[in-house]
Amino acid sequence: MNYLYLGDCLNVLQDYVKDESVDLVYIDPPFNSKRNYNVFFHDKEIQVQRLAFEDTWSLKNVNDSMQQLDTLQNEHLYHLLRAYQDIAPQVFPYLVMMTLRILELHRVLKPTGSFYLHCDPTASHYLKTGCDAVFGVRNFRNEITWKRTPFNGSSKSRAKQLPRNHDVILFYSKREDNIWNPPSTSYSEEYLKRFKWHDERGYYRKTLLKTYSQETFERLKEAGRLIEPTKKGARYSYKQYLEDSKGITLVDDIWSDINMINPVAKERLGYPTQKPKTLLERIIQASSNEGDLVLDAFCGCGTTVDVAEGLRRRWLGIDISPFAISLIKHRLQGTYQGDLARFEIRGIPTDENSAVKLWEQNAFAFQDWWIMEFGAFSTMFGKKGADKGIDGIAVYAISKADKLNAAFQVKGGQKVQSKDIDALLGAMVKHKCELGVFLTRAEPTRPMLETIAKQGYHKVGNHHYPKLQILTLQEFFAGQQLKLPKENVTFKSAEVIGKGGEQAELKV
Ligand SMILES: C[S@@+](CC[C@H](N)C(=O)[O-])C[C@H]1O[C@@H](n2cnc3c(N)ncnc32)[C@H](O)[C@@H]1O
Repeated sequence: MNYLYLGDCLNVLQDYVKDESVDLVYIDPPFNSKRNYNVFFHDKEIQVQRLAFEDTWSLKNVNDSMQQLDTLQNEHLYHLLRAYQDIAPQVFPYLVMMTLRILELHRVLKPTGSFYLHCDPTASHYLKTGCDAVFGVRNFRNEITWKRTPFNGSSKSRAKQLPRNHDVILFYSKREDNIWNPPSTSYSEEYLKRFKWHDERGYYRKTLLKTYSQETFERLKEAGRLIEPTKKGARYSYKQYLEDSKGITLVDDIWSDINMINPVAKERLGYPTQKPKTLLERIIQASSNEGDLVLDAFCGCGTTVDVAEGLRRRWLGIDISPFAISLIKHRLQGTYQGDLARFEIRGIPTDENSAVKLWEQNAFAFQDWWIMEFGAFSTMFGKKGADKGIDGIAVYAISKADKLNAAFQVKGGQKVQSKDIDALLGAMVKHKCELGVFLTRAEPTRPMLETIAKQGYHKVGNHHYPKLQILTLQEFFAGQQLKLPKENVTFKSAEVIGKGGEQAELKV
């Protein structure tokens, strides 16, 4: 069984993940960029921006972590963090937040396990000192430089400085006998160009014969592979044939052969900071084997779990955002369909009671969760809630060229009234949505049902979709379905908008 957890990874790790149970941890947490990462929904008629996650850390928003700081058992780490409080106060709250989680991740790693921390030069140097304190300096394996793009980054990233174009991936193991399958790659075009000579046996390059035995010399001569020096006193070379090489070279710690996801990439989902699958393939193949357990505690739109699933690893993903968790669910179901290994989502409502509880704790999270259950883009987030009458939007493809829009409205309170339906109808007209969905915890009144019935159907070919539909929380958990077109493409038509080499924002 694989698991997706909605929640703060510190709590999830502490409450649910056993000591020494995980083979590989990869995390790509917020980088302390002090900005918000937004997702944009841009249609001809509807333009909505919502927050995906925040990356600003202050003593206030890491209050929970601060309270745990004084109970730290690792003295070295404690003193390190307290020193940063004085010398780097701007990064101190972020470092406390991160190192407490790294400590937990170290706890859950098996002795043969590996840990990869994806970050960038904003805080990689601080984070490395924290990782050294947690894992021990001797277990530091590599600092991987990932060159994100062959281009020169955004104009901002190169103003009066060299273009900023790389991320840092810190690689640690728990002990020396970590699982290790050395990654290799096919020869690059550039390398192949060196094999520019040709004879009856094939392409070869000229390689200098540096130190050699008489026996080697004779063997090369006999085989016709020895190349006489052209100048007096120069050394011999020999013909190194392409066909004798394995066609692969070992990957080193500079990764420039994997590009960040481009605007038209098929795998692009519209989640800011989404990492390319090839990056995770390399890491997961290098540091785990089939059947091993891979954990991503800041899993975003689920690149790690998607790749782990494809490579037949078991997986566990954690993210604090209901938006991210829903995206992952749809991503996995879309990619693997019937072949998807069983997985369970924890931390989201599983019945009416837990849904109501979520409403009582956090009405915005409730709305976010329910809308996303339908693969709709939730336009709602925190106090910056969008338009009245519309909390979410979904787009359906009905032919290659034609799409239908559905407006979603959620009500979690104990009462609903006719004016709520009127607001939804108004939003449908305003945003040119052919369909409307009213999701409610409370039972609708008779006049509401009459208004809904009066709207009739929207016809597409042989299909008839009710223009307005209503679903109660009770019906939802009883498995009642809405009548909506099958092909939901809400998150498929994402497009990058700007920010070049930095973690890009995307529009859906
Ligand atoms: C840079 S994104 C990860 C992107 C991911 N690698 C991908 O390819 O989609 C960081 C994620 O960390 C999540 N996050 C932030 N704080 C968290 C916490 N305390 N626990 C779990 N997830 C958290 C955010 O919601 C966001 O989705």
